[in-house]
Amino acid sequence: MSAGIVLLLHGPNLNLLGQREPEVYGNATLADHETRVASLLKSAGYECVTHQSNSEGDIVDRIHAARGNTVGMILNSGAFTHYSWALHDALRLYAAPIIEVHLSNPGSREEFRHTSVVAPVAAGTVAGFGGLSYDIAVQALTALLTSPRNPTA
Ligand code: DQA
Repeated sequence: MSAGIVLLLHGPNLNLLGQREPEVYGNATLADHETRVASLLKSAGYECVTHQSNSEGDIVDRIHAARGNTVGMILNSGAFTHYSWALHDALRLYAAPIIEVHLSNPGSREEFRHTSVVAPVAAGTVAGFGGLSYDIAVQALTALLTSPRNPTA
C-alpha cells in the first residue's frame, strides 16, 4: 500500500520539452522528468499520477479533481505561473502541500517571469536547477509529508 498519491502537474508548452529551447530547458523530455519523479516517489513510498495540459481550464479542473484524493502536488505551471489568477484560486482550494517547480530560474529572466501567482499558495519553490529541480521538489514534498513544518521552529 502506498503512503498516498502525488500529482505531478505540468502547464503549457512543457509537452515540448526536449525540443523547446534546449539551451534554457535542457534536452530531457517531459516523459523523462515524469518517469524519474515517479521512480523517486515510488522509492519514498508514494504513487505518482501525471497530467499536462496547454489549457488553463483543464489545469483548473485537474486541480479540483485532485482535492481530497492526493497527498500533495508538484507543479510546473509554465507561463500560467506568471498571470493565471484562476490557477491561483484553484490552488487555494487544494489543502495539501504544493511544491512549485521550474527548470529555469524565472527570477533571472525577463521581467514578466519575476511574478508568480503560484508562490503565495505553495509550500515552497524550487527553480533554476534543470531536471534536478524536480528531484529536490520530491525530497522537499516527502520531507514535508513525513514531518510537517513546525511553524515555531
Ligand atoms: C518554466 C518557466 C516559465 O517562465 C516558462 O513560461 C515555462 C517554463 C520553467 O520550468 O522554467 O514554460 O516554468
